[in-house]
Amino acid sequence: MMSVSARAGALSPYLQATKQTVKSLRSLAAKGLVSSAAPGGIRMAHTDIRIPDFTDYRRSEVTDPNQSSKESSEARKSFSYLVTGATTVLGVYAAKTVVTQFVSSMSASADVLALSQIEIKLGDIPEGKNMTFKWRGKPLFVRHRTEKEIATEAGVNIAELRDPQHDKDRVINPSWVIVLGVCTHLGCVPIANAGDYGGYYCPCHGSHYDASGRIRKGPAPLNLEVPFYEFPDEGTVIVG
Ligand code: FES
Repeated sequence: MMSVSARAGALSPYLQATKQTVKSLRSLAAKGLVSSAAPGGIRMAHTDIRIPDFTDYRRSEVTDPNQSSKESSEARKSFSYLVTGATTVLGVYAAKTVVTQFVSSMSASADVLALSQIEIKLGDIPEGKNMTFKWRGKPLFVRHRTEKEIATEAGVNIAELRDPQHDKDRVINPSWVIVLGVCTHLGCVPIANAGDYGGYYCPCHGSHYDASGRIRKGPAPLNLEVPFYEFPDEGTVIVG
């Protein structure tokens, strides 16, 4: 049978170290330096770890450990709401400014708009005459109609027209007919006060328009185009 000392000599290095530790703890317990109740439950507090001081970043209301943070919660919430609200307002204002500038950069500038419009003094055009202007690279007819022409065009039965349109739907002031001088067939420039209907006549292929610019005879399919225009005063028209 193997003796105790022989068995102790056969212990592994780990068991020998454990045995030595228990022996040391017992010795410390005997001196009253550690509790002997649970020598295996000793935990080492890592008190050597340095914790950074965040006091400079904390609000002064919550730095006192003896004071409840609830007392200052309303004031801190109000501050947070104020900062959030101000940031939101500034953000929305900045977004609105960016969008406005972006959209306005896409619209035509003042000089381009000025080129796109033409202002005509109507007093220079006698009754019964048609004057041709150049507008956006195209001929523009401005016709000062007589009372007879106004009455004739207003009385046309639109059911007989190829491109049915009443005269009152083509003019703002019955005395003035303003149309593009471009034949709707193949784009020639018609001649004013000519043709079977006394309005406009296109010599290229023989289209006849009346004094309202409506196609009455010939190959053209549509009436002469009416551009956007307005009368800022009685003697002036602005086209475009
Ligand atoms: S282009 Fe005017 S009739 Fe053909």
